[in-house]
Amino acid sequence: MDLSTKYLGLELKNPIIIGASNLVTDLDTLKKLEDAGASAIVYKSLFEEQIHLENLEMDQTMTGIEERHAEMASGFSDSFDAGPGDFLISFAEAKKAINIPLIASLNAIYDDTWIEYAKKLEKAGADALELNFYNNPKDFEMEGRSILNSELDIIERVKEAVKIPVSVKLSPFYTNPLYTFKEMDKKGVDGFVLFNRLFQPDININLEKMSFPYNLSSEYDSRLPLRYVGLLYDNLDADICANRGVFTGEDAIKMILAGANVVQVVSTVYKHGPQQITKMLEDMEIWMANKQYEKLEDFRGNLSKKNIRDPYAYRRAQYVDILLKSSEIFKDYPI
Ligand SMILES: Cc1cc2nc3c(=O)[nH]c(=O)nc-3n(C[C@H](O)[C@H](O)[C@H](O)COP(=O)(O)O)c2cc1C
Repeated sequence: MDLSTKYLGLELKNPIIIGASNLVTDLDTLKKLEDAGASAIVYKSLFEEQIHLENLEMDQTMTGIEERHAEMASGFSDSFDAGPGDFLISFAEAKKAINIPLIASLNAIYDDTWIEYAKKLEKAGADALELNFYNNPKDFEMEGRSILNSELDIIERVKEAVKIPVSVKLSPFYTNPLYTFKEMDKKGVDGFVLFNRLFQPDININLEKMSFPYNLSSEYDSRLPLRYVGLLYDNLDADICANRGVFTGEDAIKMILAGANVVQVVSTVYKHGPQQITKMLEDMEIWMANKQYEKLEDFRGNLSKKNIRDPYAYRRAQYVDILLKSSEIFKDYPI
């Protein structure tokens, strides 16, 4: 069975990529993920805050040195723009430790940081760069169009600054995500990752305080990317990576049937360990054998909006139909 696919111009042995997470910080875990069959790994994001934190620490250290040994400090002047050196060193070590592609992920705020660190990550050996557009709405004055414009601008400038392929990981919170995809596609984005998980705080009612748990995905979380993958298939030049709630080989197959080139997984690895990747790949092969498919292209996009026989599947009519038939739910959940 041939599970190989292409994503961001990279030849991958199968469509299962490990998404950005803290799983990658330990080189042993990284090797285990590769041995389990992952075809590529996205390194955890480098955040603007980290960059400033390290510069701030460096500033404080240097001030101390200057006060004590003015002449010694001059020797360090070049280090001020070294930025998050530890991160880049760990990234380069991870790159050396594995034989599958390592994709860098960047989450900056200021335009210049995007450009500067895109270049630094490319230099550190990244096979591709994922721009992590983490726009969690909090500002009543910010108009949607201006957010999109600044993101389009960043894409354009990063694409000019680096030679490696550039993907965009984004949230579904745009007035019309399809328009957003199309506009970004026109800027030459090489791939889209659907969707980012934006952090949402919870409330502890006993302490009457906000709490900040890290929630892993649940199985229903895959429905949103599944629909958008199906809508996007054959409408973009960029590749499509489905991310969120992909736990099993069956989930990965659904995403490919909708039109995805690849999937990214994180929660399923946290919950079931690296060996889950092996299981997913085995289950995909069994399904393909049963269906007599030899390669992913034999079935990719078969259930996309473009190819599906039911013209209403991706439309409003389907929603209305389900609601009108809502009494059917009582068959499964009698009250
Ligand atoms: C512990 C943890 C750390 C994460 N760190 C990052 C990160 O640095 N950058 C990023 O873009 N996404 C990060 N994510 C989000 C994942 O890459 C992924 O988008 C999300 O978990 C949905 O995929 P899943 O359903 O397979 O978990 C993180 C997720 C977890 C659970």
